[in-house]
Amino acid sequence: MEVSVLVGSQWGDEGKGKIVDILSNRYDIVARYQGGANAGHTIEIDNNKFVLHLIPSGILRDNVICVIGNGVVIDPQALLDEIALLESFNINIKGRLFISQNAHLIMPYHKLLDSISESGSNKIGTTGRGIGPCYIDKYARKGIKVIDLLNKSVLEEKIKLNLEEKNVLLRKIYNQKELNIEEITKDYIEFEKKISQYITDTPSYLNNAIEEGKSILLEGAQGALLDVDHGTYPYVTSSSPTSGGACTGTGIPPTKISSVIGIVKAYTTRVGLGPFPTELEGEAGEKLRKTGAEFGATTGRPRRCGWYDAFLMNYSRMINGIQRVAITKLDVLSYLDEIKVCTGYELDGKRLKSFPTDVERLNKIIPVYETLPGWKSDISKVRYYEDLPVNAKDYLSFISEKSGFEISIISVGPKREQTIEL
Ligand code: IMP
Repeated sequence: MEVSVLVGSQWGDEGKGKIVDILSNRYDIVARYQGGANAGHTIEIDNNKFVLHLIPSGILRDNVICVIGNGVVIDPQALLDEIALLESFNINIKGRLFISQNAHLIMPYHKLLDSISESGSNKIGTTGRGIGPCYIDKYARKGIKVIDLLNKSVLEEKIKLNLEEKNVLLRKIYNQKELNIEEITKDYIEFEKKISQYITDTPSYLNNAIEEGKSILLEGAQGALLDVDHGTYPYVTSSSPTSGGACTGTGIPPTKISSVIGIVKAYTTRVGLGPFPTELEGEAGEKLRKTGAEFGATTGRPRRCGWYDAFLMNYSRMINGIQRVAITKLDVLSYLDEIKVCTGYELDGKRLKSFPTDVERLNKIIPVYETLPGWKSDISKVRYYEDLPVNAKDYLSFISEKSGFEISIISVGPKREQTIEL
């Protein structure tokens, strides 16, 4: 009985989709524990490319059950679009997808409020999917949960109460048109008809599965440095992508977790605003972005690109309890003559002992780099560690030693088969 948590270790977009797909044939169940349709997990199989936003990537393996946990915020339309996409590829969902009755629903006003707040001076570069406003309502105890879809009068009452308040905000503060209660209620009643078959008590389902000896992979979205508590606040998402979030986001207790796996990109990227100490500006950043096809899977926005940051990764390893990692996109670095790795931060001439999460210090730190020779050859067809060029092996050993983790998977391309397992 293995219960593993899989976390994005940097600022998201580490390649979780592909790695969950690779790992999921070793697990009976894959469960998502936080975030919503702000995530974009890309998997390429044969000549098909899937971008999943809500449903765990394990759905692409016939024998794997997928769970959307209570920590996730669900946009019902995005969910239905995703189900339709999978069905168009003849992927059977029925009996293989369970949705927590306690997950919160993204409502039209959440998306509207997200875009309004992003048009002001407090912009942080969100995905505009209504994630922040939905979590605000959850913690303000005003949210509408999946279970509310099952009781029409409760649903109507909650939409009414919410809209009475949101419409005042929209009209008086933001000078926007009010939203129509009847229309929204009608849409959500329609959603209920289509998704009620998937709704269940997922904490009981998952804990019973553990009792029966089933293995579970808990899939995080985004990345540790976007965590609302441990990330580069306020430039973060509104949930807990770190491994701790896996327990609250699924109802599986910490005593049942057996391992934590980190997904680590061989360099660093960030989408949206916020500090990024090892960012490459100008042509060098552009070249890395183009080579790595670093454009958001959800919004299409260009991702900011930079060198691997071992100092940041040590922090991430510590807060997540990462034991082993999957390194992704190693092949992307093949064009470089030399590769830099950040091994520490200096602030006011002093070497920092711990990672500063406050924006004020992070914006002032000077990264300390060590430079390694590149390998300058195509590694996308390599399938065994021994066949990697010596400089690629040295790069992996160096980042693994400086970050304090063991590497168990190396990804050298987007396809399932472009994977080296150690
Ligand atoms: P939100 O999650 O849409 O509220 O956006 C908050 C921050 O998290 C922004 O900087 C987004 O770009 C970032 N973000 C959200 N989801 C992802 C993701 O899946 N990958 C990378 N960044 C993300």
